[in-house]
Amino acid sequence: MAGRLEGQHVFVTGGARGIGAAIVEKALAEGASVSFMDLEEEEGRALLARLGADRLGFAPGDVRAAADIAKAHAEATAKFGVVTGLVNNAGRNSYADPVAMTEAQWDEVFSVDLKSAWLVARAVLPGMIAARKGAIVNIASLHADLTYPGMFPYAAAKSGLVGLTRSLALEVGPHQVRVNALSPGYTETRLVKEFFERNDSALRRAVIDAHPMRRMAEPREIANCAVFLLSDEASFVTGAN
Ligand SMILES: NC(=O)c1ccc[n+]([C@@H]2O[C@H](COP(=O)([O-])OP(=O)(O)OC[C@H]3O[C@@H](n4cnc5c(N)ncnc54)[C@H](O)[C@@H]3O)[C@@H](O)[C@H]2O)c1
Repeated sequence: MAGRLEGQHVFVTGGARGIGAAIVEKALAEGASVSFMDLEEEEGRALLARLGADRLGFAPGDVRAAADIAKAHAEATAKFGVVTGLVNNAGRNSYADPVAMTEAQWDEVFSVDLKSAWLVARAVLPGMIAARKGAIVNIASLHADLTYPGMFPYAAAKSGLVGLTRSLALEVGPHQVRVNALSPGYTETRLVKEFFERNDSALRRAVIDAHPMRRMAEPREIANCAVFLLSDEASFVTGAN
C-alpha cells in the first residue's frame, strides 16, 4: 500500500536512528516529503545519504532548544511547505535514583521526553491550523502504563506525554488537527541495547516474556503504526494512545 502520505510534509524529531529513522523511511516510501531533526549530525547525514531522496531534509538540532526547533522548522517549510504531520519521537531513557537525582537531571529528562513535544507542536501548529489539516504523533511508551524498577522518572515523563496528547487533542480538534500517542513495547534499537547492557540476561528474557508476541518489535513495525496515525485512514482518530 504505497502513497498514503502523498502531498504531506512530515517532520520527525530524533529521526537519525532507531524508531525515528524507520518513521522517516516509511513516510518517504508512502509519498511524503520528510524533514527530520536530530542531535547527532553525523548519523543524520548518514541517513540522508543512504535514503538519498529529493523529498528528504535534515537539520541538526536539539529539541530542548526552542531556537533550534525554530531554525529546523523554518528550513523545512522553506523547502517543502507547511508541515502537515509531526512525529515527536526524540526521547531518552532515565536510570535515576529518586533520592540522589538532582533537579537539573530531572529537568533534563522532562525537557527531552515531555517539554520538547509541546515546543515542536507550538512551532508547527500555526501552519496546521491555517491549513485546517494536521496530525501529530507523540511517541510515548509502554512505560506510561507499566514500568520497571530502576527507570525513574521515565514513566512519569511518558505518562505526561500521554496526558499532553489528550489535552492538546481537545485544543486543536476543532481546527481539524489530530493528536495521538503511540506507546511501543520494547523495540530493538540502541536505547534498548543500552538498557539491557545495564542489566543481566534474565531481565531480557523476562521483558520478552511480558510481550504477547514473545519477542521485541522491529522499528519498522512501530513506523507502520505511526504512518497510519499520520494518514487520512486515521481521519477520526484523535486523543488516543
Ligand atoms: N526502543 C524502545 O524499546 C522504545 C520503547 C518505547 C518507547 N520508545 C521511545 O521511542 C523514541 C525513540 O527511541 P529509540 O529506541 O529509537 O531511541 P534511540 O536512542 O535509538 O534514538 C533516539 C533518537 O533521538 C535523538 N535525540 C535524543 N535526544 C535528542 C534531543 N535532545 N534533540 C534531538 N534529538 C535527540 C537521538 O540522537 C537519536 O537519534 C523515544 O522517545 C523512546 O523513549 C522506545
